[in-house]
Amino acid sequence: MKFIISLDQGTTSSRSILFNSKGEEVYVAQKEFKQFFPKSGWVEHDPNEIISTQMETLREVIHHSKKLDGEVIALGITNQRETIVAWQKSTGKAIYNAIVWQDTRTSDFCRTIKESYGDLIKKSTGLIVDSYFSGSKAKWILDNVEEASQLAEAQDLAFGTIDSWLIWNLTDGMTHATDVSNASRTMLFDIHELSWKQELLDIFGIPAHTLPKVMNSSDQYGSTLVEGLAIPICSAIGDQQAALFGQCCFTEGQAKNTYGTGCFMLLNTGKKPVASNSGLLSTVGWRIGKETTYALEGSVFVAGAAIQWLRDGLKILNDASESEALALSAGDTSELIVVPAFAGLGAPYWDMFARGAILGITRDTGRAEITKATLESLALQVRDVLLAMTKDSKIDLASLNVDGGASSNNFLMQFQSDVLNKPIDRPVCKESTALGAAFLAGIEVGLWTLNDLVNIRKSERVFNPQMENNVVEQKVQKWNKAIERVKNWVD
Ligand code: G3P
Repeated sequence: MKFIISLDQGTTSSRSILFNSKGEEVYVAQKEFKQFFPKSGWVEHDPNEIISTQMETLREVIHHSKKLDGEVIALGITNQRETIVAWQKSTGKAIYNAIVWQDTRTSDFCRTIKESYGDLIKKSTGLIVDSYFSGSKAKWILDNVEEASQLAEAQDLAFGTIDSWLIWNLTDGMTHATDVSNASRTMLFDIHELSWKQELLDIFGIPAHTLPKVMNSSDQYGSTLVEGLAIPICSAIGDQQAALFGQCCFTEGQAKNTYGTGCFMLLNTGKKPVASNSGLLSTVGWRIGKETTYALEGSVFVAGAAIQWLRDGLKILNDASESEALALSAGDTSELIVVPAFAGLGAPYWDMFARGAILGITRDTGRAEITKATLESLALQVRDVLLAMTKDSKIDLASLNVDGGASSNNFLMQFQSDVLNKPIDRPVCKESTALGAAFLAGIEVGLWTLNDLVNIRKSERVFNPQMENNVVEQKVQKWNKAIERVKNWVD
């Protein structure tokens, strides 16, 4: 048997997953790591902890694979996107914490460039100017971290999203590279030309030599030596694009929604980027050989993170898995709305200055009701994104494929189906993200062709709409009102 390992470096944990040549998940290792919130709106990770947790899980998987009959033939990488790391090339040392995609410290700068350069940025990168993306974070490091500009001047500074940081470390500094999908999330990359755009580098003041080489999603990134095994790194792809690939959405018009830390709906738009007029992003899906696939994306910043907040912040859950039973035990929440805009609002509103709120509390509102309304908020955000997607693409999806941690919550999936008025299709393999990276690595080493992969996806459960229309309508109305209230809150 041949095996492929996927490294799935997410926002809250590092995971390594072993897949066999049938695309079946054989073993998973996972390690959570620390989140740093040094100031309001700031979110950081320790780049060294990202590497150490990732390597621990990789070693665990390799140990397990050695007990099996077969060999590991390739490694694929998928990662939280937009998070930026800066390091010294000559020593490989990170010079500052990783600034995480959720971090809003550059909102003011983004506001200042939006008016003059918003159109140019949207046209060439497919993105809306927002502190979410990596470009302004890299600029912040150059402007605020003492050694950054000296290192840049000495051509000894490297920037990279998490895929680059992993590849650099896994190859012992031999490869400074990223893939097209990750590059397309920086606000510095021309998604039509598939190269860094000098005009944008000038706006952000980023020297080209600090940036990684941009490669295909299936490609030869070098090899890594772990536990005596030399394994070729054969794919790199942002986690949401990876999930689209792992859900076998290879054809134009297919879509998925992932409920991770955030919620990300992606629609395959084929060989050309589709520009959005409704607050969605045009982004690179993946590139294999000479063919690029594009996607339309609706990015919701807070989804699973809201459940984490119930657990770690409010301490009204001991474990995220309690949320389903608790929500089902709750009383009427038709007037209760939680807006989890902890990091501003992403698609389709794009308001860096919005903040979260709980509206409609009454004397009988307790932990069950807050939990239920929080879960409902995930689905309501997804509803807004789907409406925008239907408008932009003119495609009325027959059903929506789902994955990610919170997709295992049956209450949430049922409510999602109710508010979308569409079937929700949950696959057997919930690891779509890791599977996507494994598929791409497998394609690179000739284990699979796209045709081999189409039939791998199997449905585990389909949720059909049940709620009466007027109940949905009432909820949606309250939700829309609440969204209006939280906009521009910290301005
Ligand atoms: O764009 C951010 C996204 O890549 C984060 O994904 O899975 O860590 O929520 P996740």
